[in-house]
Amino acid sequence: MEEKTAKRHVGRGQGIPDHPATARTAVTVPEVMAAQGVRRLVMVTASDEPSARLADAAGVDLVLVGDSLGMTVLGRPDTLSMTMDEMVHHTRAAAAGATRALLVADMPFGAYQASVADAVRNACRLIAEGRARAVKLEGHRPAEVAAINAAGIPVMAHLGLTPQSVHRFGGYRVQGREIDQALALVAHARELEAAGAFLLVLEAIPAALGEAITRAVAIPTIGIGAGPACDGQVLVYADLLGLSTGPLPRFVRRYAHLDDVVRAALGAFAADVRDGRYPVEEECYPEPVGLAEALATLAREG
Ligand code: KIV
Repeated sequence: MEEKTAKRHVGRGQGIPDHPATARTAVTVPEVMAAQGVRRLVMVTASDEPSARLADAAGVDLVLVGDSLGMTVLGRPDTLSMTMDEMVHHTRAAAAGATRALLVADMPFGAYQASVADAVRNACRLIAEGRARAVKLEGHRPAEVAAINAAGIPVMAHLGLTPQSVHRFGGYRVQGREIDQALALVAHARELEAAGAFLLVLEAIPAALGEAITRAVAIPTIGIGAGPACDGQVLVYADLLGLSTGPLPRFVRRYAHLDDVVRAALGAFAADVRDGRYPVEEECYPEPVGLAEALATLAREG
């Protein structure tokens, strides 16, 4: 396989610097592209102001308003029912928190499948109304990527286990296990790059294929279950923090168990209320002068 670039992550402090969490300037698309082969990129999903603000403060490079929020935040069985209005709503909330990291919004199912014109129109909504700075769409769609890019909107592509195609895959199955499928994914990655995608997400494919695609394209790859050779990694906020339920994919690493923390805090609040320990005097507003007398008079007069 021809390699366009010999990619090697040379580590911190060489090439372009990390974009520090304290930086006042926002992470840009050219900066993200220049990180390819120089330092590993970090992306995390967010769906509202607090999650985006915390991800931003932690110094991640990119915040993705992924349509997975339909499952992890809205409790739906899959991502397929997410609408453009819902994605705009959540993107706008996340934009209030992600003031430094590059905010990318997912195009939901139905927003780009029917026509290229739909794709451009809906990408424009995510930028203008949602305040995203780039969009992501799933699958091998070079025409849509090229048209959105031509409209001046940076596009992130997404290959492998693309959840909007769950029914075609017959479930959430690892992709690229058959050789012809693996070679097709390499070809699709190159075509999406040629169409102008600035970054490529690779989901649930064998690590060796993640490495081959990463070497085959000159744009950065960000893996989620695609092995360590990708130019960066992404995890879903609720999975990473221990807020999601149900069986987890093999690639998820829990960095916290916030469900335990939240359940314990809510339980303590409930116990304090029931036992009369909340609120105490310091948690109450002081009585205005004359209120006791006024209330006594009111009671006397009926
Ligand atoms: O919707 C999402 O969260 C995603 C990531 C898994 C990449 O597409």
